[in-house]
Amino acid sequence: MRTPIIAANWKMHKTTGEAQDFMHELAGLLNKGNLEVVICPPFPLLGLVAEAGSKYGIFTGAQNMYWETEGAYTGEVSPLLLKDLNVTFVIIGHSERRHLFGETDQQVARKIKAAFAHNLTPILCVGETLQQRQAGETMAVVSEQVNVALTGLDPSQVRRMIIAYEPVWAIGSGLAATGKDANEVAAQIRKTVAEMFSLKVARDIRIQYGGSVKPENIMEFMQEAEIDGALVGGASLAADKFAAMINRVAGEAVS
Ligand code: 13P
Repeated sequence: MRTPIIAANWKMHKTTGEAQDFMHELAGLLNKGNLEVVICPPFPLLGLVAEAGSKYGIFTGAQNMYWETEGAYTGEVSPLLLKDLNVTFVIIGHSERRHLFGETDQQVARKIKAAFAHNLTPILCVGETLQQRQAGETMAVVSEQVNVALTGLDPSQVRRMIIAYEPVWAIGSGLAATGKDANEVAAQIRKTVAEMFSLKVARDIRIQYGGSVKPENIMEFMQEAEIDGALVGGASLAADKFAAMINRVAGEAVS
């Protein structure tokens, strides 16, 4: 049985005070059952979120990192520092990193390896553009992204990681995929992982959907057999909305 995992990707939002208020408000609203909650704030807020989160059983994730442990890499953040700040998860290869900052599949693969080397759990983001979807390339694009990112990893590592399927056209657009479409891509991701490793690893890995998830549609995704969670952007910025999503998923998991 895979434990549901709901993660907030705050992207480049919130100040120290806003993050403090959010954590306090969220803790008061949560009716958390058997599921994992992760907050991924901007780098400077990681310490604050990790400290508050540890009191409430909420995990902390970074939105990116570099693969080297330390050195002359101005502006980068190392996995060592993330560990030092009590970070548990790290988003790797978000489409905004790929498209706005030119991150390649090869760089994504190096980051995934470095995350495991430092005992961080990667949330690997994959997904097709609108053009690729319209050209019928979705499955091929996603399989290739998974393939390059996971090549050379140990099955014992892969089975505990998260893959987030985030169609680029659904991010921040208000136009979410349907649960059925997202489930088909999640099934394809599992098939790719099974071919690379084993059926067991493919069954253990947790797959999130991301892209315009909100309280009104989260259950459409969570009901699907291959989807184990959500990676939420815009709707994770307000504590009441984020709590509503978590409480819905927790309620369903109990009943
Ligand atoms: P939105 O929920 O704002 O569409 O963003 C999704 C996302 O990119 C999460 O990583």
